[in-house]
Amino acid sequence: MAVEERIKGEDKHMIDEIVSRMHGYVIRDEHIPWRFVDREAEVWNMVDEEGVVEGGWITVLYGPKGCGKSTFFRALSHAVDQIDAGLDILIVERAGDIQRSILHLPKSLRRLARDITDHVSKIIKISPDKTRALISPPTTYRISQNDSWIEFDASPFHIVNEISYYIAYWYEIDRRIVIVLDDARIDDEESLWRFRGWLENFANIIREDNSVYMDRGGSIAVIALTGDALVEEIRHIVGGKVNWALIWNLSRISSEELVSQMGLHHRVAGELGVGVETSKEILWRLAGGNPRALRLIWERGLKEWLVDEIIGGIRGFAQDLPEDQRGEALEKISERMDNVDDIAWTDPSIWKSMVKHNIIIYIAAAKKISEIPREPWIGREYAFQIPAYYHILKAMAKKRSWEISPEEVIREAMA
Ligand SMILES: Nc1ncnc2c1ncn2[C@@H]1O[C@H](COP(=O)(O)OP(=O)(O)O)[C@@H](O)[C@H]1O
Ligand SMILES: [Mg+2]
Repeated sequence: MAVEERIKGEDKHMIDEIVSRMHGYVIRDEHIPWRFVDREAEVWNMVDEEGVVEGGWITVLYGPKGCGKSTFFRALSHAVDQIDAGLDILIVERAGDIQRSILHLPKSLRRLARDITDHVSKIIKISPDKTRALISPPTTYRISQNDSWIEFDASPFHIVNEISYYIAYWYEIDRRIVIVLDDARIDDEESLWRFRGWLENFANIIREDNSVYMDRGGSIAVIALTGDALVEEIRHIVGGKVNWALIWNLSRISSEELVSQMGLHHRVAGELGVGVETSKEILWRLAGGNPRALRLIWERGLKEWLVDEIIGGIRGFAQDLPEDQRGEALEKISERMDNVDDIAWTDPSIWKSMVKHNIIIYIAAAKKISEIPREPWIGREYAFQIPAYYHILKAMAKKRSWEISPEEVIREAMA
């Protein structure tokens, strides 16, 4: 049954209200003048009773870099803050290096900012029932003037653990709490194993914390966001101890809505000397609804984006391959380009490097909270994070050369 049919009455009204508030959210980054688009399906799939927000569980929500994970949760917390949805979203993000974090508090928890800070920065804490004593390093902090965020000298993992503990044992009001760990960066072996250790450990703790808090009528869920396709490597190991969910780039319709808010179709038409309709088509075929890509094109121009991000990204991947295998690698990849899923069969080292460089991502075996479009760059098991990677590899394979110009990439995409 579709989620929309399962949820009725009050709840349905609530979700419509949340989505409409999200659409009023103005993206906070720097100087950006556009509003939040889309994500209705994602909201439904998140808050539905069979959804990914499940008390006592960690959900690893992954998806292409720049597909809008962070922005989604900012818009969602902004929306649920405005209406009383009974849901509180706390966001923990890294501030620069791994030992600094920022905790964003929803309205309902702001009056507790000082209390939370005291709790996190204490050295030894004993739970009210005296069953749990924790020793943590003393932590320094800084609270914003309106108490909406706190900066800690501690890792985001540490902060998530402490907040969960605080809510479970000390928060008296029964709420549905969601703690979002924004951007668990997993770009090398060390961070991958650190993340794995945290998941395995915290999966047990969150169940316990949730059951303590449930006695007072509340629930706590944790969502860990990552854009790193390497996360796939620990999925078999961590497996069913946590939930796995996938979020995707914007749909074609929503991507076009964002493009027109940005006026990007006109800019690109001007840059390339093509018509506006052609320019929309080019944008879809290259950016595939990835909002970060659209934003970079808006800031730098299409060709410069291709050079910096796409040609540069492929160069990084190629340089990671042993030198004597580079020529052959292109050959092997080109044989598999008709079916993206076959990429996994190219050669283990080529395929692993494509995952590590965030060119492709594994998309099976996770609950999909977004609709995944049918496009040649998306298979059933693997997909290119951004279609420009698919076209550039095709163009390179035809040319039998790693050297390519942005014009050649555009030509291949439009072929
Ligand atoms: N739904 C959306 N509507 C409009 N712009 C968006 C949306 N989602 C993301 N963006 C834009 O795309 C950029 C990248 O999104 P972000 O949330 O940082 O991606 P991720 O966290 O997945 O890497 C943001 O700077 C924002 O400007
Ligand atoms: Mg992010």
